[in-house]
Formats: sequence, structure tokens, C-alpha cells
Amino acid sequence: MIRILQRMRSRAIPLLALLIAALYGSALWFGLSSPRLATWWSLPVDPRGTMPWHAPSIESVPADEHGELIRDGRRIFIATPEFASDHARALVSCSNCHMQGGIRPYASPMVGLPSIFPTYNKRAGRVISLAERIQECFVRSENGTPLDPQGREMHALLAYIDWLSTPQPTRRKFAGRGLVVLPVLTPDPARGQRLYVSQCAGCHGAGGAGYTPQFPPLWGPDAYNDGAGMNQISKMAAFIQHNMPQNRPGALTPQQAWDLAAFIHNQPHPAFNPAYKHY
Ligand code: HEC
Ligand code: HEC
Repeated sequence: MIRILQRMRSRAIPLLALLIAALYGSALWFGLSSPRLATWWSLPVDPRGTMPWHAPSIESVPADEHGELIRDGRRIFIATPEFASDHARALVSCSNCHMQGGIRPYASPMVGLPSIFPTYNKRAGRVISLAERIQECFVRSENGTPLDPQGREMHALLAYIDWLSTPQPTRRKFAGRGLVVLPVLTPDPARGQRLYVSQCAGCHGAGGAGYTPQFPPLWGPDAYNDGAGMNQISKMAAFIQHNMPQNRPGALTPQQAWDLAAFIHNQPHPAFNPAYKHY
């Protein structure tokens, strides 16, 4: 009897995964109108910020060609490996890091960026455009290749980010830009490993490969590469302290976030291709 139950259990898990995948697939299919997207889209985005901001209404996407471009940009943003498959080798979407389609404060949101770029970029050592910043994430966070700067994918992403930013007064920063600022602490990766097992492995997998496309990988061949912002311990610590675990954001102390980031940093990541180092 127990054996049968155990067998049912081991079957139930792949079945459950399939069911989740099917639901996720249909959410993508419906794109803008999916219930999950609609729920987080209508959240008040920045209750504490100095600049109250609400996501533009989805109905405000025009029904014309420009609207189609915005919708394409949104698809690429939310399901990058599927809709920009030639340029993304990682099984990670923009929206897995720039959460809620790029509107979540302190998950490096896209809101307001068109009026801030072109701006000086420390990594590049020069002033770069928003398009060039997007290329950086393609060759690093997506472990992929740059887009054609004049191609539809780049125009679509820029149109989407513009649309997100339209209600913003120009030349002012969105209050949740970037990531939270944590104190600089000395991390302990061994402590991070224990925390990973108890708090993260359930969604991101014991081996860090995640369960794509719902739960993105954190290391291994399908993750961001070692040139990515997430590969910097301080950046990942700031990201996870405010945004993870996804079902209990804010539960980690800054020290725990540093420990986890150091542990994940020590795991294998694909190598950044130095041919793209000007991005
Ligand atoms: C693995 C995580 C990850 C993925 C995937 C990712 N990014 Fe990023 N992105 C980051 C991090 C980290 C930063 C830097 C945040 C900081 O320093 O404040 C960043 C910064 C940016 C910025 C500049 C934000 C600012 O405030 O100046 C843009 C624009 C951007 N990403 C676009 C994209 C796009 C478009 C995609 C998908 C093609 C993408 N990113 C995929 C992690 C990611
Ligand atoms: C309940 C499931 C869940 C748990 C638990 C969880 N995550 Fe996540 N994590 C997610 C999901 C889902 C995303 C993608 C976010 C999105 O698409 O909105 C994500 C994204 C991330 C990302 C950015 C994407 C990438 O591939 O780099 C990092 C880093 C991350 N999680 C780290 C952690 C760490 C560290 C923990 C443990 C403290 C943790 N997560 C716990 C579900 C979870």
C-alpha cells in the first residue's frame, strides 16, 4: 500500500509540473489579459515612494501598429527565451529579474528610464543609450548576443518601456529605481548554502537549475553568465533581500542576503564572451 502511495507521489510531481506549465503557457498565450499578469499589473506600485505611480492601463495600448509593437515588447520582456530566442541563451526572462513586467520598485524597474538615458555607465566608462543598456543585459544576463539595433525586437522593447513610462513627469527618477541599498557586510557562503537549502531550493532546485519557465535557474548552463550584474555579490544580495523568497519577500536579513549571494556566486556560471565587452 505504502509502495503504491509512494509511486503515486512520484508520478504526481511531474504531473503537477505539467499542469503548472500548461497554466503558464495559457497565461502567455493570453498575454496582456491573463489573470496573473492582470493581478500584479494593477497593484499600487509605489506606496512609500516620493512619486506615487500607477501602471498605465492595459487598455491604453493603442489598437494600431504601434500598439502591436508595444505588445511585442511586452512579450519579449516576459518570455525572453521564447520571443527573442536567437539572442537569449539563458532560460531567464527580463521579467524574472525586472519583476512584474518591469514595474516592481527595487527590482530594477524600467519605469522612467527613457528620460534618464542616455546616461553615464560605470561598466562601459562612457555615456550609453537605453538601447545599449538593453544590449548589456542581452550579452550578460541573458548570456546571449546583441539585438540588431535597428531591428523589430529592439524597437519593440523600447516602445514597451516608453509606454510604461508615459505617466511619469519627465526628468524625475522613479522612486524605486535600481535596487535597495544594503549595508556592506562580510558574507559567509557556508551559511548561505544552509539557507539556500531551506529557503530557496524548493523553487530554484537543489542544483540551482530552477523549474523553467516558472522558476528561473540561478546557476549552471541555463543561468546568467559571469559578466552579469547578478553575478556581483552586492547586487544579488540587494535583489534577493527585497524580492526573495518570492512568496515571502522581505523575510531575509541583509546578512542572510549577503550569505546567500556569496554561496550562489561560488556556483558555476557560463563565461561572459569578451567579444562583447564594449557592452
Ligand atoms: C539575471 C537577471 C537579469 C535579467 C535576466 C535581465 N536583467 Fe537587466 N539588469 C539586471 C541587473 C542586476 C541590473 C542592474 C541593476 C542596478 O545596478 O541597479 C539590470 C539593469 C538593466 C537596465 C538599466 C536599469 C537602470 O535603472 O538603469 C535595463 C534597461 C535592463 N536591465 C534591461 C533588461 C532587459 C530588456 C532584459 C531582457 C532582455 C534584462 N534586463 C534582463 C539583471 C537582469
Ligand atoms: C516560492 C518560490 C520561490 C522561492 C522560495 C524563491 N524564489 Fe527566487 N524566484 C522565484 C521566481 C518565480 C522568480 C522570477 C520572478 C518573476 O518572474 O516574477 C525568482 C527569481 C529569482 C532571482 C532572479 C532571477 C535569476 O534567475 O537570477 C534570484 C537571484 C532569486 N530568485 C534568488 C532566490 C533566492 C536566493 C531564494 C531563497 C532565499 C529564492 N530566490 C527563493 C521564485 C522563488
